[in-house]
Amino acid sequence: MKLFDVYPLNDITIVRGEGSYVWDDKGQQYLDFYGGHAVISIGHTHPHYVHRINDQLGQIGFYSNSIIIPQQQLLADKLGEVSGKGDYQLFLCNSGAEANENAMKLASFHTGRKKIIAFSGAFHGRTSLAVAATDNPSIVAPVNATENIVFLPFNNVATLESYFAAHGNEVAGVIVEGIQGVGGIVVAEEDFLKAIGRLCDEYGAVYIADSVQCGYGRSGKFFSHDIAGVSADIYTMAKGMGNGFPIGGIIVAPHIKPKYGMLGTTFGGNHLACAAAIAVLEVLANDKLLDNAAAMGRYLQEELKKISELQNVRGRGLMIGFDVPQQYTGLRKNLLNTHYIFTGEAKPNVIRLLPALNITHKEADTLLNAIRAEIKSMKEQQAVLQNN
Ligand SMILES: Cc1ncc(COP(=O)(O)O)c(C=O)c1O
Repeated sequence: MKLFDVYPLNDITIVRGEGSYVWDDKGQQYLDFYGGHAVISIGHTHPHYVHRINDQLGQIGFYSNSIIIPQQQLLADKLGEVSGKGDYQLFLCNSGAEANENAMKLASFHTGRKKIIAFSGAFHGRTSLAVAATDNPSIVAPVNATENIVFLPFNNVATLESYFAAHGNEVAGVIVEGIQGVGGIVVAEEDFLKAIGRLCDEYGAVYIADSVQCGYGRSGKFFSHDIAGVSADIYTMAKGMGNGFPIGGIIVAPHIKPKYGMLGTTFGGNHLACAAAIAVLEVLANDKLLDNAAAMGRYLQEELKKISELQNVRGRGLMIGFDVPQQYTGLRKNLLNTHYIFTGEAKPNVIRLLPALNITHKEADTLLNAIRAEIKSMKEQQAVLQNN
């Protein structure tokens, strides 16, 4: 059987990982500034994580949500402590799209309304409502398209206010990334997030903070949205939550009440996934990784801004993007093929840095030196071409 060919692949087979390094089947070492797409939060094969998962697997890996799974409560308690949202309620699922799907569904159940506001440049996943709320028509199948999702311009308070003034009583929720990831590392402005919080309160709508990529400490805060000083009604999470083990979840403010059967999943919150997520939270707290993300993010941005060829260096914590001018288009490919460093991208010309939250100065310097060396070498090649 062939694989369903939907991914354009790099010709690389990764067989092993440790910390911020991975190795291919030929023994070549790579520095991982992509984090497997913002997923690796505490580093590959962190010993505490491996231990907790192995230990759990030796006892029981899965049983259904029809029985008590104490690991879920332990996870909820730790999540409450680390995120500062101890009064919220946790619902567990398996991925970012599923988290957003559940959040929007819950907003609709809670308000009895249908309309969800999403924003230009948004990415919320590939399942039905999540993809409908994603600003990329090429991945929305005809069956997913719905008039219930309304797109408004990102970071534009005036348009949001006018929409609420005209239709506020139809709005079930507003879904927004604190820092747009797939959209190219675009930070939501504080005034914009404040306005979302205020308007949702005023009109009884639900503020959904998509924290799938920008959450879980990546920005240096547990939730990047909280920089605005306004709490969302629902936060959605996945990626860094399991450090590669598939787990997602939503945390729900106390005023939104659950009902039996309202949400559900077979695999969500299973013993093994909880063990992975508990280990991640323990390492985040014990190793003070939010502080490291903030400090290393500052350092990387300061140094990247000194490289004059890179444009619009931006982001927060370890969610950083910059624009690559056309004459250096090959930069990302060369970082991988010549310097063996993985980075992320966003179309058309953005390099995204999404490393593990325990990245070190030495590893940051390896990346920075490689960028400097690569730009120098590309400049030299261009000069040779011009002189011939
Ligand atoms: C902000 C955001 N939301 C949701 C998703 C979807 O997550 P998943 O691929 O786990 O379904 C992504 C994935 O990149 C994302 O970046």
